[in-house]
Amino acid sequence: RRIAVVSGGTSAEHDVSVASAAAVEAALARIGVEAVRLRIERDGCWSSRGRPLGPSPATGLAAALELLADCDAVYPMIHGAPGEDGALAALATLAGIRVIGSPLTASAVTMDKELTKLVAAANGVDVAPGRCHGAAELDAGIPFVRPVIVKPATAGSSHGVRLARTAAEFAAAISEARLFDERVLVEQPVVGREIDVAVVRTAAGELLVPPPLEIHGEGVFDSATKYDGTARFTVPAAIDDATARRLQDTARALFETLGCDAIARLDFFVTPDGRLVLNEINTIPGMTAHSQVPRMFAAAGVSYEELIAAVVGAPVP
Ligand code: DAL
Ligand code: MG
Repeated sequence: RRIAVVSGGTSAEHDVSVASAAAVEAALARIGVEAVRLRIERDGCWSSRGRPLGPSPATGLAAALELLADCDAVYPMIHGAPGEDGALAALATLAGIRVIGSPLTASAVTMDKELTKLVAAANGVDVAPGRCHGAAELDAGIPFVRPVIVKPATAGSSHGVRLARTAAEFAAAISEARLFDERVLVEQPVVGREIDVAVVRTAAGELLVPPPLEIHGEGVFDSATKYDGTARFTVPAAIDDATARRLQDTARALFETLGCDAIARLDFFVTPDGRLVLNEINTIPGMTAHSQVPRMFAAAGVSYEELIAAVVGAPVP
């Protein structure tokens, strides 16, 4: 069996993707599955094991498709867009290759925080009050009224996410967010504990939802605290059983409603009065050994190899 793992990408999450892919590739090796390593470099050109596949994105893609044609499946491991937004799922679908991951629509909707909120709200799940502003509106200027969270509609790893407490901070936060996306979300901050839930559909069709994880940190869990080692997790989260079950049920329902597949991580706030507020959904969440999803499964007694084996449909040796 051979599975292509596609990593890298042109987004700000390139390095995290490479780290996630290295962990997945090592796990595949340990369960006896050959990993065909495909990388999209920062400039969009494709490579495999350090060897350029072509001098331009298009020529490299053509060579990559030839390598993909010899694989049983493709496992997209690019965080952020293009990649996690369904671009890789679409490519594999057009090439007639099985995708280990969410299909195009679920990927595209969840990559977009505004669309995710619309679907969640339509399904009775609370989201942060606020709205998304397009380029023309942003150019005209939005008045600052109260402290808000400003975020690009589609970035990952919290890149471009800022808490703005003053008009000056607001203007700076909008400029920063626009570096990542021309559409910007302005939301009321949610006061609550930050709790993540993993949902996995195994290759055999079984849904697994391990106990949730809590993230502790000062202020906003932004891209710096995410990877500077100061973030602390409690796994399983120290929450009552009823709240844990509500989180798991809500996450499972959203995963199914949106048509997600393989692995997704749904990030919530739990407010002091016990409300669950969906923050965002990641269809290609961080997969290093110390990322949230593997940590949740490890706490539930499922090793990293067992998790990957279940998702790709390989026996654990
Ligand atoms: N976007 C990062 C990789 C995550 O959600 O884990
Ligand atoms: Mg994300």
